[in-house]
Amino acid sequence: MQQVGSSTTDNFPLHHLNSSDCGSETSAEPRKSKARAQKESADLSRMRPNVSFYVFYLLLLGLGVACMTCVCYWITQWQGGFAWDGTHQQFNWHPALMVTGLVVFYGYGAVLYRVPLTWGQNKLPWKLLHATLMLLALLLSIMGLCAVFGFHYAKNIPNVYSLHSWIGIAATALFALQWVVGAVAFLLPCSPTSLRKLLKPAHVWLGGSILSLSIMACISGINEKLFFALKGGANSSAAYSSLPPEAVFANSLGVLIVAFGLVVLLILSIRRWQRPESMPAEVVYSPLHQDDN
Ligand code: HEM
Repeated sequence: MQQVGSSTTDNFPLHHLNSSDCGSETSAEPRKSKARAQKESADLSRMRPNVSFYVFYLLLLGLGVACMTCVCYWITQWQGGFAWDGTHQQFNWHPALMVTGLVVFYGYGAVLYRVPLTWGQNKLPWKLLHATLMLLALLLSIMGLCAVFGFHYAKNIPNVYSLHSWIGIAATALFALQWVVGAVAFLLPCSPTSLRKLLKPAHVWLGGSILSLSIMACISGINEKLFFALKGGANSSAAYSSLPPEAVFANSLGVLIVAFGLVVLLILSIRRWQRPESMPAEVVYSPLHQDDN
């Protein structure tokens, strides 16, 4: 498998259009078909190293859909469904929105730049899509927190006492900070390239750390909810320790969330799946192309 950084032909569809191919053309047709043949063979060689990326990317998309489906199924099948009325059905929005926002949408947004299809193109639309997905993830998480705080307020339950809530608050606060700093540094046209270069490694590291924190929050939250809901005893539901179907299902949801997080972190950690830092000099590409940071 070829290293992305070491071979420009791996990454850029228009690599064959270098200066020697342009200019004083005498017989355009043979040149065009030669260029087409070169492009096809380059496209084929570029596709091969990307197959393993797309296998993991499809796995990630599937795991994300499975997480969102399973959390909704758990809530509707065993926890009485959704409402926004101060009852425990209002609480139910909390896991559904946190898993959808701070895990699935966040994870999808985090790996967006790794999709090789986006590499030969102007980066600006992908930056905007990345920022939009992350903003959507943040808004869903904030709604998820409003659901649980509103429920606690309505039922006079104390706030932020558990380890789960501490980790959850830390994850959401860091995410909000990361979004604001990221938008200012990477989206504002006036922000200097040197600042972008300085911030980029920290942005990537903090991005992975926030995902790890949110996975921890989900696992501890599922565990806590099962302890609350499955108390056992004569007049209530089966005990968690007897592993009723709800516990098996919710534990499995936790495993799916962990698997999703691991696949995101794996994709982020593989160097040859990173978007190349800069376009090589001979590449001819869109005049709208922005700087690459
Ligand atoms: C990234 C995901 C999550 C974050 C950031 C998060 C955050 C929080 C926060 C800050 C609270 C405290 C609310 C208050 O004190 O009024 C809380 C409560 C709670 N959350 Fe989550 N949560 C997440 C996912 C989940 C999931 C998936 C479940 C599964 C059911 C869950 C279950 C609970 C429970 C049972 C409480 C009430 C008890 C407590 O305050 O610890 N959470 N969550």
